[in-house]
Amino acid sequence: MITIPGVKPYFKEDGFILYPGDALELIPRLPEESVDMIFADPPYRLSNDGFTCHAGKRASVNKGKWDQSKGVEDDFKFHFSWIAACRAPLKRNGAIWISGTLHSIYQCGYALQLSGYKILNDIAWYKPNAPPHLAARYFAHSHETLLWARKYKNSRHTFHYRKMKESDWPEDFLKKPGRQMRSVWAINTPPAEEKVHGKHPTQKPLALMVRIILACTNPGDLVLDPFTGSSTTGLACWLTKRQFIGIDVEKEYLDLSIKRLQDIQRVGGVRTRRARRKRPPALPSRGQVPIQFDESGAVAEFMKELEEIRKRAGA
Ligand SMILES: C[S@@+](CC[C@H](N)C(=O)[O-])C[C@H]1O[C@@H](n2cnc3c(N)ncnc32)[C@H](O)[C@@H]1O
Repeated sequence: MITIPGVKPYFKEDGFILYPGDALELIPRLPEESVDMIFADPPYRLSNDGFTCHAGKRASVNKGKWDQSKGVEDDFKFHFSWIAACRAPLKRNGAIWISGTLHSIYQCGYALQLSGYKILNDIAWYKPNAPPHLAARYFAHSHETLLWARKYKNSRHTFHYRKMKESDWPEDFLKKPGRQMRSVWAINTPPAEEKVHGKHPTQKPLALMVRIILACTNPGDLVLDPFTGSSTTGLACWLTKRQFIGIDVEKEYLDLSIKRLQDIQRVGGVRTRRARRKRPPALPSRGQVPIQFDESGAVAEFMKELEEIRKRAGA
């Protein structure tokens, strides 16, 4: 597996590597044209001491020091620097995904254009369960934007069109069976089961990441997440047999990533609470990993469902 030469991984196992450090320093050290896809969920830089609503209560919007804005120009320089740096390690036919809110996504889009990428789609990830807007002075924020771009204007990106159109996506009420997948996706924010090992303030749902990985990569491909956080991207890679490199400045989040990975390995898939979720999760299992924590038989039943989902998705 590809590694960052001269840099000691924080964690390395079976196609899943985590590096502690600054993405701006580590991205340029990756071997040239070594990565098939990059998924980046960079800091939104929205932590401005304002308030939001969490579980029905007033809560600070602050995510951490890493998320503080340093002003429009400095924020743009940051996004332009890492986006431009991502070109060298990306393979010729490689692609990049970037997620963000209004605070960051326009800067990232402009930086992609300035750096020579071709933007292919902007996905509106609609969160049906987004919290209300407490001050009642704006429309309630209920989506994030995901940009998908390829390295060159004329390169050949990977896109599994039929898989997207014909597979089942039970978590998304907007996706009509057998119809083309459109650019608005309805997926809830991560359920409690995905946060049993701790909370990352901007954790992405596994269903969102599995969809992107299945759409735009092949088994065995290498995916880089330079702002990995709790490594939802990495878990989606592990579940779908892709290789993964994640980078984060905060070791606390790398520890959370390791706990999440080990949980999935132990359970042989993702935890669900069948009593709370009647629909099966749209996640494939990575194969026969012994199940150890099952007390009620629910996991065995869940494994059967996963196998069916995996077959339907052709993963
Ligand atoms: C929006 S969060 C990513 C969340 C992730 N997608 C998940 O599902 O958990 C951004 C992450 O970038 C990290 N970060 C901020 N600045 C960084 C930098 N310069 N280099 C590497 N990581 C950085 C933060 O610690 C944070 O975990």
